[in-house]
Amino acid sequence: RGGRAKKKVLLMGKSGSGKTSMRSVIFSNHLAESTKKLGATIEVEQSQHRFLSDLMLNLWDCGGQEAFMENYLRHDQNQIFSNVQLLIYVFDISAKEYEKERDFGYYTDCLNAIKEYSPDASIFVLIHKMDLVPSDKRNVFLRKKKELLDHSEDVPIRVFGTSIWDESLYRAWSRIVHTLVPNAQDLTNHLDEFVEACSAIEAVIFEKKTMLLIAWSTEAGDFSKDDLDDEDDREIFERQTPPDQSCDQSNKERCHPSVTPVLPPDRFEKISEIIKRWKNTLLNSKMNFSFQNWVQEWSNFTAVLEPLTVNTFILVIAADPDILPGALRLNIEMAKERFI
Ligand code: GTP
Repeated sequence: RGGRAKKKVLLMGKSGSGKTSMRSVIFSNHLAESTKKLGATIEVEQSQHRFLSDLMLNLWDCGGQEAFMENYLRHDQNQIFSNVQLLIYVFDISAKEYEKERDFGYYTDCLNAIKEYSPDASIFVLIHKMDLVPSDKRNVFLRKKKELLDHSEDVPIRVFGTSIWDESLYRAWSRIVHTLVPNAQDLTNHLDEFVEACSAIEAVIFEKKTMLLIAWSTEAGDFSKDDLDDEDDREIFERQTPPDQSCDQSNKERCHPSVTPVLPPDRFEKISEIIKRWKNTLLNSKMNFSFQNWVQEWSNFTAVLEPLTVNTFILVIAADPDILPGALRLNIEMAKERFI
């Protein structure tokens, strides 16, 4: 209808922080393992990724070696930082102290350049290689995040901890890309209605090639409307599926007759990751892979994953044991035209 929106996305950060790795895992379906062979990016590597039918991502992977950073910031500011919709700055949590300081300087310079040349751009910061931080040292991430937020007071930024070795990468990139989807609110509204109509507890739409989440609706609320950070988001996931006692008359239909076990909070990202790995294995062995009728059951839940449009899949989860997968599929079939 409105033509295809082309969005310039800058991927910046020091050399070796993991920019090309994440790009190749998310957009080229590479396994994390294969990124060990990547060489340094020379200057800027541009790639176009068609995302849904009406969104084209124009990804600028900016090589992070110092000589290149100096060029972007001192000589090519206008070319690099103009018309940017989104800046993603990647910090390597495992960097040495002296590297961190220099990196922070470049980060500040990039923020200033963005403010000048693309003041409306959204800014995301990824604290990357979190797999290298022992789980009992999580305050390392929180400290870094606080430092960044304090430092970026006048520019709204969102910060995520990521690693190519787990589903955190999907979580962050889903949130990032979601902000670029032109009709995201319509999709969410349709999903809300769909969840209500088929007595499901949640429904999620994934983009087909990347398996990034682009819209979701759950009984816990509408995630796309919030502006919460990583930690708060997790809390929301964990607060979902209210026990019966909390159901009052007015929302009775949306509550469940028996005590509902809680779904894994990171289920969507895990699904993205599992499916991409699965797809990879099957493609490698030259087998023809189809998502058709892929169904998984989580204990008391019924989960159905089905193609929705040419570019998307939908995952629908129901907690009522009387709802059969076939009924959910039928509902998806009937709802398809609303999502085209
Ligand atoms: P330049 O192109 O020089 O700017 O570097 P880059 O930021 O593109 O880094 P690249 O993606 O080439 O990654 C450098 C190294 O980091 C590779 O050996 C990757 O395997 C590794 N790497 C990337 N992401 C992660 C991660 O999440 N965890 C760990 N442990 N290693 C990672």
